[in-house]
Amino acid sequence: MKRRAMVLAGAAVAGLIAIAALAQKQDGEARVDGVTFLGEPVTATEIALGQDLYAANCASCHGASLEGQPDWRRRRNNGRLPAPPHDETGHTWHHSDQDLFKITRSGVEAVVPDYESDMPAFEGILTDAEIRAVLAHIKSTWPERERAVQAKITANDEGGS
Ligand code: HEC
Repeated sequence: MKRRAMVLAGAAVAGLIAIAALAQKQDGEARVDGVTFLGEPVTATEIALGQDLYAANCASCHGASLEGQPDWRRRRNNGRLPAPPHDETGHTWHHSDQDLFKITRSGVEAVVPDYESDMPAFEGILTDAEIRAVLAHIKSTWPERERAVQAKITANDEGGS
């Protein structure tokens, strides 16, 4: 009886895991549905690629969970800022897709001339498609509200800088 109960419990757990996997998949697909880059839809494959590229190229400064560096709002003694989070607690979502792309490709100086920053330029390290994938991954982690606000900022930046 005890054994049978364990088998049943095991089956129930397996069932739950299957349901969780399914829910995650659906959630993942739904999230992808809501994620765009420069108004273009983004695929699940791109986001998965972006996640790997993020871990390899960005996580060392911006954090494995996009949490940023400790005390990221306080300028260091050399006058430079630490790496901010890329999740909704930071201000990445305050920037248009256009600016996020420029910052990642060419550094913060690309949007703020003569600005000194520890943010490296990824031109020559990541292709434009890879930069797009990394940013799509970052965007896919934002809650609906932040994503909607950022979509408006991006739309208003059209034809601009
Ligand atoms: C060597 C550390 C380092 C690495 C690696 C790094 N960053 Fe940064 N990043 C920074 C710092 C520091 C800042 C803040 C710059 C400032 O404002 O002076 C920053 C800022 C940014 C910003 C602007 C955010 C905002 O809210 O203003 C974006 C976008 C960004 N990084 C994207 C990336 C991406 C994408 C990667 C990986 C492809 C990456 N960074 C890798 C250090 C890094």
